[in-house]
Amino acid sequence: MATYDIGVIPGDGIGPEVTVEALKTLEAVAGVESFEYNLVEYPYSGEHYLKTKELVPSSVIDEWRLQDAVLLGAIGHPDVEPGLVERSVILGLRFGLDLYINLRPIRLYAEHLCPLKGRTPEDIDFVVVRENTEGMYSQIGGHLKKGTLDEVALVNGVYTWKGCERASRYAFELARKRAAARGSGGRMPRLTLVDKANAIRPHDIWTRAYAHAGRDFPDIEQDHAYVDACCMWMIKNPDWFDVIVTTNLFGDIITDLGAMIQGGMGIAASGNIHPGRTSMFEPIHGSAPKHAGQNVACPLGAINAIAMMLDFLGEPRAAQRIDDAVSDLLSSGEVKSADARSGISTSDMGDRVVQRIRAAADRA
Ligand code: IPM
Ligand code: MG
Repeated sequence: MATYDIGVIPGDGIGPEVTVEALKTLEAVAGVESFEYNLVEYPYSGEHYLKTKELVPSSVIDEWRLQDAVLLGAIGHPDVEPGLVERSVILGLRFGLDLYINLRPIRLYAEHLCPLKGRTPEDIDFVVVRENTEGMYSQIGGHLKKGTLDEVALVNGVYTWKGCERASRYAFELARKRAAARGSGGRMPRLTLVDKANAIRPHDIWTRAYAHAGRDFPDIEQDHAYVDACCMWMIKNPDWFDVIVTTNLFGDIITDLGAMIQGGMGIAASGNIHPGRTSMFEPIHGSAPKHAGQNVACPLGAINAIAMMLDFLGEPRAAQRIDDAVSDLLSSGEVKSADARSGISTSDMGDRVVQRIRAAADRA
């Protein structure tokens, strides 16, 4: 029987609450699909930092490297310097483990959750492949004459051939895999490169690395959009998109937009992936301090992150069970909105997913 070692960082705010629900669904599908897992919990968070002044030590990054996957709830505390703990935990994992892909599916589960008029689940089903280790997140830069009227702040966007090429290749492969899963008669696969190579000329390294990788994928339609136009198309014609590949910062921005058109931040999940190595999974929402401790946060993003993790670990049937349960719950109409105002508590939402997993298993 397969056994997985999973690191768990519940984090701050609503992070711990949604993590409990996510782990409930993990337990439910493990029982049905017969795999085992060991959880190791880590305290790193803004809360922990305020108490101990401790950030993630490098020995712990080494420890994570030996596990099969890491699950993260949410990080961010209003009383801590902005970004300090986020950079330590989230970017520590992304950079430390070279998790060069940030995979963010944008899929509408039910029409009533979409803020766009008349859009149905058929119209919104694409995946953003966000490069996850470079770009404007390189942390190369700093200040000169800080605090004076002569202050200069510099930040360097770093784009390497290797980084652009491997992200593009991953995205082409994903487009191919999605087309195979749709079968004949499904839409043609398309990979859209999103950049700003008109105004930021060095972005043309993306144009060339993408074209280079694309030579091995004649079956995938090549497509391009500048990031501003991409935002416009995501609202106007979301059905155009199949797979998008883009820079770290643009991926960050367009996936919040994506989360809204797929039904809200409460649903969206992401995988921070290095194929074949330890990878990290998280809901894309933040710690939402104002909703913390009230049992109102929507745990579906964290639950979907478990599904992505199981798919990555080679348990696609278990992942499918979660996905089916979430789809069924959202299309049932029971959930009016997938956010803190849904009227369904965090724990009740988790229970409803688990009930559906169990009911489907009993029917089989
Ligand atoms: C995300 C978040 C992070 C990012 C923050 C918390 C550093 O917004 O995962 O999208 O910018 O990548
Ligand atoms: Mg973000």
